[in-house]
Amino acid sequence: MKPLVAFGAGKVILLGEHSVVYGYPAIAGPLSIGVVARGGPSRSCVLDVPVTADAAQKRMMRKAFARAAKLVGEPKVKVTLEPQLPLSAGLGSSAALAVATSRVLLQAAGQEPTAKATARLAWEMEQEFHGTPSGVDHTTSAEEKLILYRRVQAPAGVTGRARELKSPRPVSVVVALAGARSPTKLTVGALRERQARWPERYKRLFGQVGRLVTEAAKTVEAGDLEGLGDAMNVNQGLLNALGLSSPALEDMVFRLRSLGALGAKFTGAGGDGGAVIGLFPEPEPVVAQLTRDGVRCFASQLAGPRVQGDIP
Ligand code: MEV
Repeated sequence: MKPLVAFGAGKVILLGEHSVVYGYPAIAGPLSIGVVARGGPSRSCVLDVPVTADAAQKRMMRKAFARAAKLVGEPKVKVTLEPQLPLSAGLGSSAALAVATSRVLLQAAGQEPTAKATARLAWEMEQEFHGTPSGVDHTTSAEEKLILYRRVQAPAGVTGRARELKSPRPVSVVVALAGARSPTKLTVGALRERQARWPERYKRLFGQVGRLVTEAAKTVEAGDLEGLGDAMNVNQGLLNALGLSSPALEDMVFRLRSLGALGAKFTGAGGDGGAVIGLFPEPEPVVAQLTRDGVRCFASQLAGPRVQGDIP
């Protein structure tokens, strides 16, 4: 068997995390860093888990792998993972892992790793990692485009609808890590309890986020970065109202705004800490400044004419 290699992109959600779980739209884009999976000869279908994963993560990865492997007839391959992203930082590492692994499994089983086939298999793994995810993470990773995504209740395997958002201007963000990360399951679960207790109030807030996302999609397509930044700022206010932010995340949001971000918000699950994004027409000087100050950060272009790659 010839060696197999595949990539799964990490992701950032530009707007609409959490409300996307309840069927409202979200905008998300791929990072150029993610997870690389390699497949080599083996007597069985086996996963070599990354050494950087903790015991619980390793257990979950093995269960998720077994679930996906079964669906493609457990081809004889040993899959090794090389994460380029911090695990569990809100940057879609589990989806990236699921997509990279699925691409190798499909190839090992003699199947074409199309975006659709990859997304179907990765969805199986994502359910093991997150319980009831919206599907936005692995769809963004499999599509590798900036997308407007909406979850749909549909036959098994189809989790949502995605439409590419093209921008006439580069849409670039600085991604900065702040505070100690909260597991996605916890923030999603706590919000579910609050919305079950006060459904009308939370429905109103989710609806506000949904309208903002629809407006923001138009700003992307018009190349109106100022309008997009303002929508991100308002989205952050609504995420705070939903009880999903914290001092560490808010401090980083305000820091990015003070450095000239057109808009800044946390991305992903939120909680005690995680990843914060700032929209910058010129992200490199901001990354240099934050790095000098000891902040873990990088820049990524999510859409528009290519002007730069990621700065690790
Ligand atoms: C996590 O990256 C995004 C959430 O909206 C959860 C999900 O969509 O499944 C918080």
